[in-house]
Amino acid sequence: DKGGWSSFMAKEIAEQPDAIANTLRGRIVEGAVEIPELGSLGPDILKDIDRIVIIACGTAAYAASTAKYAIEAWARVPVDVELSHEFRYRTPVLSARTLLISVSQSGETMDTLMAVKYARDAGVKTLSVCNTQSATIPRESDGVIYTHAGPEVAVASTKAFVAQIVALYLFGLHLGTVRGTLSTEGLHDMTRQLLALPEKLAEVLEVTDTVRQLAHWMADTRSVLFLGRHVGYPIALEGALKLKEISYIHAEGFAAGELKHGPIALIEPGQPVFVVVPSPRSSAELHSKIVSNIQEIRARGARVIAIAEKGDAAVLPFADEVIPVPLAEPLIQPLLSVVPLQLFALELSTAKGLDVDQPRNLAKSVTVE
Ligand code: F6R
Repeated sequence: DKGGWSSFMAKEIAEQPDAIANTLRGRIVEGAVEIPELGSLGPDILKDIDRIVIIACGTAAYAASTAKYAIEAWARVPVDVELSHEFRYRTPVLSARTLLISVSQSGETMDTLMAVKYARDAGVKTLSVCNTQSATIPRESDGVIYTHAGPEVAVASTKAFVAQIVALYLFGLHLGTVRGTLSTEGLHDMTRQLLALPEKLAEVLEVTDTVRQLAHWMADTRSVLFLGRHVGYPIALEGALKLKEISYIHAEGFAAGELKHGPIALIEPGQPVFVVVPSPRSSAELHSKIVSNIQEIRARGARVIAIAEKGDAAVLPFADEVIPVPLAEPLIQPLLSVVPLQLFALELSTAKGLDVDQPRNLAKSVTVE
């Protein structure tokens, strides 16, 4: 039931504040993180791991790439993110001290399931981040963190993506606590920020009309580029994936620092480029680098659409459009800046008269390798 929405995707984007409140529910107790479903992955095991490998496909892999920054910062464990099908068919170096985390909305993706089984057979501990109760992947894993985002029907994943990042953040905070790498102050600060997230997600949804207008103007666009740095980089990749999936427009995401190593050659007058801008308050260095990237592409005629923190005056002179997101700490910002990109894909697909929920050639759950 679409509940009055024009598509399941529109409904699921709008549900994100509630979905995230559900991911968080009962898991932050007096400022600390509690995840009882970790099963046999108790503190003794988590203290001892020396590496994390996260495997996933598509959007779930971008959620993993976003969370890598936070988990490494809080738990001081190296995190590698790899596509399940790539991981499975090489000879990955694994040890008993490796923790393999799989991320899957459906819990049925065959590539990811095969990779989990492969790791388990190699004696590796496995944790599943999953949205679907009692799906196959969590059943094959040592522990599970359910995202509790509610059923996701639209083929293009939205609320599950944000919920996956939040679930991985909760795990990162737990791991940092267990390993003693995260201060109590740092933990309390982050849990406060996470608890404030549903409200900020509700606020960022207010850009819907602005994004709809933009999408209408851009309905004939043939190619769109997305740039980001740091946690904004996987968000740029996710923005591009959403657009290609449901609008059938050529879209590519880049790390902004890569521009001069190749992609800037694509910039010609009128080329639309979305730029995910980090907060100027919290990381002045990253912010000024992005502003100079914007100037570089603007000078070559790009049409710049900046996703920037509300009140960020530095981007105004150089951007054709600014889509504001609420103030948030750097690691929280990607959870907000992805929303306008989801909305843009939805609105552009709608403007083109396409089937938003059932894009051609795609299935919600890919149960073949
Ligand atoms: C993108 C999308 C796919 C899935 C991918 C993994 O919108 O839906 O890229 O994210 O097929 O699916 P799960 O998470 O079910 O393993």
